[in-house]
Amino acid sequence: MSNPTGISADKIPRHIAIIMDGNGRWARERGLPRIEGHRRGSEAVRACAAACIEAGVSHLTLYAFSKENWQRPPDEVKALMNLLDRFLAERTAEIMERNVRLRAIGHLDDLPENTRRRLDTAMEKSAGNTAMTLTLALSYSARAEITDAARTIAREVRDGSLDPDAVTEETITSRLYTAALPDPDLLIRTSGEMRVSNFLLWQISYAEIVVTPKLWPQFGRDDLFAAIREYAGRHRRYGGI
Ligand code: IPE
Ligand code: IPE
Ligand code: MG
Repeated sequence: MSNPTGISADKIPRHIAIIMDGNGRWARERGLPRIEGHRRGSEAVRACAAACIEAGVSHLTLYAFSKENWQRPPDEVKALMNLLDRFLAERTAEIMERNVRLRAIGHLDDLPENTRRRLDTAMEKSAGNTAMTLTLALSYSARAEITDAARTIAREVRDGSLDPDAVTEETITSRLYTAALPDPDLLIRTSGEMRVSNFLLWQISYAEIVVTPKLWPQFGRDDLFAAIREYAGRHRRYGGI
């Protein structure tokens, strides 16, 4: 069966990571409150996850809320947490139906208790699913992640279970929140911003980057497929020739 992207299966990125940006601007352009942009953004998540499954992407990681996003006005933070709560309440059935495994990375203890519980339940329930792994980055900071890994390694050295001379790249990789995930092949950022905003700094070393001017609530199936096609046309050199 041919892939709906028109790309052969061996050129489909195994792992796509997305910085979902531009909800606020989408709302402002329409004279709507920012939260309406976030609401539309959470609908775009659903469409994007479905399109990834269709294309045969096995890992999708979405930057949903950064550690730095806690600095936003309390009303916006509260609304975002409510949306996450609603997403989990309303979408867990579909997640199960589509055979998606839900995971989360970040400082999950920062989340409101009820949201954290819902998240844990959805993750436990979906742990055995195999069509795609959907990872939500929540209260996530790549520097915090690397710092946490450094602390873990330091403790292991202190306790004598790790020899400093035995520390390799794999030692670090395996102590990140993403230990179980392959590195992203493709990093997409919407809304035209040319920055990484503290997302997966270690893991994106050799990711191909696609920045689209589309704002996140406008990003749909066709945009995802276009990004995959752009990726498939790139020549990944990894420092070679
Ligand atoms: C992305 O949209 C969603 C989150 C960061 C939670 P923004 O809220 O950053 O939208 P802009 O960048 O203000 O348009
Ligand atoms: C990055 O978007 C974080 C998420 C998409 C969750 P931001 O809107 O917070 O990033 P900056 O502030 O433009 O760098
Ligand atoms: Mg933004």
